[in-house]
Amino acid sequence: MCNQKGGVGKTTTTINLGATLAEYGRKVLIVDFDPQGAASAGLGVAAHELDDTIYTELMAAKPDVHQVIRETGVPNLDLIPANIDLSAAEVQLVNEVAREQALGRVLRPITDDYDVILIDCQPSLGLLTVNALTAAHGVIIPLETEFFALRGVALLVETIDKVRDRLNPRLHTDGILATMYDARTLHSREVLARVREAFGDTVFDTVITRTVKFPDASVATEPITTYAPNHAGAYNYRKLARELISRGDVA
Ligand SMILES: Nc1ncnc2c1ncn2[C@@H]1O[C@H](COP(=O)(O)OP(=O)(O)OP(=O)(O)O)[C@@H](O)[C@H]1O
Ligand SMILES: [Mg+2]
Repeated sequence: MCNQKGGVGKTTTTINLGATLAEYGRKVLIVDFDPQGAASAGLGVAAHELDDTIYTELMAAKPDVHQVIRETGVPNLDLIPANIDLSAAEVQLVNEVAREQALGRVLRPITDDYDVILIDCQPSLGLLTVNALTAAHGVIIPLETEFFALRGVALLVETIDKVRDRLNPRLHTDGILATMYDARTLHSREVLARVREAFGDTVFDTVITRTVKFPDASVATEPITTYAPNHAGAYNYRKLARELISRGDVA
């Protein structure tokens, strides 16, 4: 989940797509890869109190990722937490051999244990995000449905292209996901039309509605699928899960 713009719905999408794929019987791992630890917090893990997080494994001479994986309250959904320690990794990795491959190296032993691994990136295109793109098969780009949303997308696409070229030939863009869509406003509808015009089939059919149920669910430290299972927001993410499955992006 990647967009260097802040507050566009990366973490919300990671948690709720993870929860809906788990509902559909997939075994899912969420990797919190943001020093803010929002995905951890949103799933009820007090990551600031933890000594062992994704950071410990990134820095370990002999990583053992099993010791940082936790179960969440959602069946089939596991989490590797992050906390502010991770903010040091960007600087510490710079002098490492294969610095872009550190996350891939940590996750390799468990990739076959999961149907899907979702990595929640921080809002930046720095070395941590490049690590996530190097480890990944695909990128989902959440885009807030508001006027300035398209700013910065060109730079993001350029970064994805560079990583594919130099580090990870299998990397593809799963799709652009319009988030925080308010069908009542002309503005939202116009922006969505522009996004579809600019990116065509790359844009998911699924659109995520703007609703206070998402921040409410975060406060309750639950995915919307358990917090408000019959709310439109929960159906939005179920639809996204089915779209990814039917397109073959998820087995
Ligand atoms: N569809 C939505 N409707 C209403 N609020 C939303 C929606 N999606 C996310 N939010 C809220 O918007 C805020 C930002 O969302 P989120 O944390 O998912 O974005 P982010 O891209 O991960 O942010 P950051 O770049 O800081 O990591 C949060 O308070 C979240 O609850
Ligand atoms: Mg986030």
